[in-house]
Amino acid sequence: MIQKRKLIIFDTSLRDGEQSPGVTLNIDEKLAIAKQLSRLGVDVIEAGFPIASPGDFLAVQKIAQEVGPLMEGREEIGKPVIVCGLARAVKKDIETAFQAIKDAPCHRIHTFLATSDIHLTYKLKITREQCIERAVSAVKLAKSLCEDVEFSPEDGARSDPEFLVEVLSQVIAAGATTINIPDTVGYKTPSEFGDLIADLIKQVKDSDKVVWSVHCHNDLGLATANALAGIKNGALQAEVTMNGIGERAGNTSLEEVVMNIHTRTLEYPVFHTINTKLLVPTSRMVSDLTGMVVQPNKAIVGKNAFLHESGIHQDGVLKNKETYEIIRPEDVGVYTSNLLLGKHSGRHAIKTRLEEIGYSGNSLTEDQMNDVFSRFKHLADSKKTAVTDDDLHAIISDLFSRA
Ligand code: KIV
Ligand code: ZN
Repeated sequence: MIQKRKLIIFDTSLRDGEQSPGVTLNIDEKLAIAKQLSRLGVDVIEAGFPIASPGDFLAVQKIAQEVGPLMEGREEIGKPVIVCGLARAVKKDIETAFQAIKDAPCHRIHTFLATSDIHLTYKLKITREQCIERAVSAVKLAKSLCEDVEFSPEDGARSDPEFLVEVLSQVIAAGATTINIPDTVGYKTPSEFGDLIADLIKQVKDSDKVVWSVHCHNDLGLATANALAGIKNGALQAEVTMNGIGERAGNTSLEEVVMNIHTRTLEYPVFHTINTKLLVPTSRMVSDLTGMVVQPNKAIVGKNAFLHESGIHQDGVLKNKETYEIIRPEDVGVYTSNLLLGKHSGRHAIKTRLEEIGYSGNSLTEDQMNDVFSRFKHLADSKKTAVTDDDLHAIISDLFSRA
């Protein structure tokens, strides 16, 4: 029997996800999300792009300092999350990324450079030779600062495979420890992307010395399928976002990759260490704080994902849930609460309900919790009916947006 290997879950909700049109998160919101991702059990958090602005730098630095050391919920994983900062293959970017992440006990620099002819010719205006030189010196510089270095050939999926083999062989020789293959514009089909990963692993020199990673965009709705094809063909890291948020049509969604591996275990050569019971609460939190509504029929975390409407389906589920459910709702954190929240409810009940909807453990500070409690009491006093989950989500969003 083949020994399964652990899939590294690299969450980029706070970097690629924050590049979703219309999304800007303040530092408190980013910290709350990062704490939740750490409890969820992700292995790497790409906390931002530190050179992009002083605010981005500060947010990454705070996450490195405050979330980097946390072990809550990670007892089985046995180590804290790796805090990663993105950098173009540019000296100032790399040095700035390092300054932002260095206080985390485990930290990584992720540097990238486009390798497709269309990007080299029109965007970067450099030759293939210059591209190799730049990539190699970026990785060498990153390596002189930090042991853990990831390199991404941007638009890798549309690059000439032979050139890609050359670039990647050289960046591995320069010290890269993770090689991430982005399908930057979501162009590949699953069989093409799976074959690309398999071929690169076969042809790149010293490919067994690095972790191979996949980073897929969803322009044709194939991001999850492509990432899973990459995993079947040897990738051991998946770059994902909560709810699949990200540029344009978004990125591969974390919950879809994890629940595919969880549900169809025999199909994949990997296992995951995500606490699946926190998937829906985390999804709700990310949706609240980014303002990006999750479509009701979204796989795993949509409001309708576990609802049964037709009479035939309801009858089936009442007789045996497995007639129409391949995932137990409670396994992904869907709860039907029996707590009716109103003006007589105390802190314990509010805290419990907040945990069920995503704001658990250390995601709210003591001051924030006091604030939520007093806003809750105020609302409960003025309402004739119970305080709902939507009311709680609104209180939380308001609290963070005023921070
Ligand atoms: O989509 C992409 O190519 C990226 C890289 C920076 C990895 O986000
Ligand atoms: Zn991307």
